[in-house]
Amino acid sequence: MTSNATSLIELPTDLDCTHLPKHIAAIMDGNGRWAKRRGFPRMMGHKHGANALRELLRCCKDWGIGALTVYAFSTENWGRSIEEVDFLMTLFENLFQIELAEMVAEQVKLDVVGNLDNVPPSLRSAIDRAVTATQDNQGVRFTVAINYGGRQEIVRACQTIATQVQQGLIKSTDIDENTISKHLHTADLPDPDLLIRTSGEMRISNFLLWQLAYAEIYVTDTLWPDFDRRAFHLALLDYQQRHRRFGKA
Ligand code: FPP
Repeated sequence: MTSNATSLIELPTDLDCTHLPKHIAAIMDGNGRWAKRRGFPRMMGHKHGANALRELLRCCKDWGIGALTVYAFSTENWGRSIEEVDFLMTLFENLFQIELAEMVAEQVKLDVVGNLDNVPPSLRSAIDRAVTATQDNQGVRFTVAINYGGRQEIVRACQTIATQVQQGLIKSTDIDENTISKHLHTADLPDPDLLIRTSGEMRISNFLLWQLAYAEIYVTDTLWPDFDRRAFHLALLDYQQRHRRFGKA
């Protein structure tokens, strides 16, 4: 990952390369509505959504954004029809397989966060292979949240820390924000500077609840499959106009 202006490909001239977010989180919403508006089945929206994601990842690389974390499947998404859940699991598996060579070539470092215990074993294997094959890459940190819930992640961290206290490894009075952060899936990533949510919904939806504490939130009416370079450019322009105060005056 680089913020060196000379290596950025086609960074729009109205963007300040010294003031880009280091880590962007995205809630990829609106695939179903995109498909419905065109008279397509919902699955078509997810397929086109995957194309939009591929393009966004490439754009992060081109424009020097170091980390991208996307919400692909929430713990609540199991409530969708079996047909849609199966489709999504197969889509993820295919993408991790088909895109692996490209991720390796582009130096993308992939991580998948969430509870993978109950995803199909074939998807788990595809994830293991892709994560292992990209773990030494030095380019964009690409994190995909699957069967992920922010509250569950915090609960799990608290359980681990409580066990360490019980075992006398740490004192309860030593627990601070850093202790919690270190026990989250994203321990080795900076907190996101910017959260993008498509399709106009003004919610965080249990995504990265701890990590998004000081993130700038950008909501666009654009539906995820239409979230292209131009839409991303607008999100970054909006971000660069914000004055991040982190609670200070
Ligand atoms: C939300 O739109 C989207 C999802 C639940 C799935 C997102 C998945 C992709 C874009 C594929 C990405 C692939 C990988 C490998 C990460 P929705 O279905 O809730 O849309 P709606 O609100 O319009 O119904």
